[in-house]
Amino acid sequence: MDAPIGIFDSGIGGLTIAKALVERLPRESLYYVGDTAHMPYGDKSPERLNAYASGIAQRLTQAGCKALVVACNSASSNALDAVRKVAGPNVPVIGVVEPVVQWAQAHHPQGTLSLIGTRATVQSGVYQTRMKAHGLALRTRATPLLASAIEEGFHNGTIPEAVVKAYFADGWAQDTDGLVLACTHYPLAMSLIQAQLPPAMPILDAPSIVAKEVARVLSDQHLLSVGEATSHRFEVTDWTRSFADGASHIMGSSIDLVQVEWSESYGSPGDWNQEA
Ligand code: DGL
Repeated sequence: MDAPIGIFDSGIGGLTIAKALVERLPRESLYYVGDTAHMPYGDKSPERLNAYASGIAQRLTQAGCKALVVACNSASSNALDAVRKVAGPNVPVIGVVEPVVQWAQAHHPQGTLSLIGTRATVQSGVYQTRMKAHGLALRTRATPLLASAIEEGFHNGTIPEAVVKAYFADGWAQDTDGLVLACTHYPLAMSLIQAQLPPAMPILDAPSIVAKEVARVLSDQHLLSVGEATSHRFEVTDWTRSFADGASHIMGSSIDLVQVEWSESYGSPGDWNQEA
């Protein structure tokens, strides 16, 4: 079997990217880590995000992953360099910010976009800086309640609807050229979010944009799998019913979920043990 692609998020959000990867690259095996013990990432400091992301990157590279996908905007905005450092020169690292910014520049040149994301993502200023560098204007809003509601399985219904409505009620995003969902959990509440926008306003399809970029990087570096069979591994740092149910729902088939224990020493990658 060819080496897997390592991919991680704080929880189920990164599975929106994993799903897009499986669709675009059906020969590839994925090794997914959901850091549910530390979810939500969106309210963590850059120091903590660097420590968590480095620890997971160490696990995935030691497991022989040929590339790493940081399927989390909070980690991509705050800890991409740390992940690259752990991965070393031979394992490409793809974050979720740059592919979306480049896509936005190509499809909305000189445009104005709106963006919702976690506090960690919005406060990092990374999207703001990169969009500006590409000649795009950006309006941002942190929407901290949304990822945890979605992780708990509230993708639709009155609770997340009320949260989404509250975040868009003042119409701040209305006249922009498109909305960036800068949190990988948010596509799971797509219909609720779309309902708050003018009908013709596009929402950027970040999972498929990122999957396309992963395919490009693997192809350029001659890392595409040539085998037929694929198998995926899904690990969480804390087993939760909502992750298990949500993951099977998103991936479209039941998955074997393995809990691993990360005996963390804060500030260093720590040691990992697999539970029996
Ligand atoms: N899905 C993550 C992101 O893209 C993080 C959500 C969270 O854990 O707060 O930022």
